[in-house]
Amino acid sequence: MEIRDIVKEKYGQAALRVTTGGSSCCGASATVDGCGVDPITSHLYDANQTGQIPEEAVLASLGCGNPTALAQLNPGEIVLDLGSGGGIDVLLSAKRVGPTGKAYGLDMTDEMLALARENQRKSGLQNVEFLKGEIENIPLPDNFVDVIISNCVINLSGDKDRVLQEAFRVLKPGGRFAVSDVVVRGTVPDEVKRSMLLWVGCIAGALQDEQYASKLAKSGFDQIEIEPTRVYNVEDARAFLNAEGIDVDSIAAQVDGKFMSAFVRATKPA
Ligand SMILES: C[S@@+](CC[C@H](N)C(=O)[O-])C[C@H]1O[C@@H](n2cnc3c(N)ncnc32)[C@H](O)[C@@H]1O
Repeated sequence: MEIRDIVKEKYGQAALRVTTGGSSCCGASATVDGCGVDPITSHLYDANQTGQIPEEAVLASLGCGNPTALAQLNPGEIVLDLGSGGGIDVLLSAKRVGPTGKAYGLDMTDEMLALARENQRKSGLQNVEFLKGEIENIPLPDNFVDVIISNCVINLSGDKDRVLQEAFRVLKPGGRFAVSDVVVRGTVPDEVKRSMLLWVGCIAGALQDEQYASKLAKSGFDQIEIEPTRVYNVEDARAFLNAEGIDVDSIAAQVDGKFMSAFVRATKPA
């Protein structure tokens, strides 16, 4: 099975769990803890933000950061959310850019799109559109978007170079890339990386921070910054790793401080 099919199946199931009143979590939270104590996806949004949008959009949140809190969004701007899931960041962005702006969400999973469109309907927001498609082939014209946001999605792509090239293509000159993602800092043995990243995001695929920056530069971006927002340690993942039969204490030194959620910023030169 291709990575894309596995991702689609996982997130299709996650969307259906929300629709039927369950938790959207996968990875650690679905098998061990329940979403409430998930150190990655929980407590990302403050009450002021969650109070502005339908509860189902909040319940479907599967991100690892809060790009709308960190990105600069101005009235009248066009925002695109890569891998928009249940739509939380699209709806929050739509409020920020106001009726003269527009927020697009892009997702390849039908169940997520259905959930997002239902959340849009409940929100009453008109300046929102959810598009079906892949982040490796963005269905928008060149030089069209002011800000690209994304929340824990680019790490899932099997072709990150292509995603960054597409992001660059659709951004206007001077446009901003403002993305939350999981990154790895320093070197970690492949086996340990695989286990930890399965815990983090269901599918192992995060980039090292230096690789991320160099891929952005290769795609044409400048003003690249990668700022950690949450750093994980082995205790966060102990229950999941134990359930996978991994000797947690033996890998602790190779894990602590190396896996993090980060906010990644870059600019398309004007
Ligand atoms: C971890 S969830 C994050 C959802 C949302 N950003 C949030 O913060 O709740 C990943 C989402 O990205 C979508 N996705 C993953 N890979 C994709 C791809 N290559 N193209 C389009 N959508 C993708 C999945 O369908 C899923 O809805």
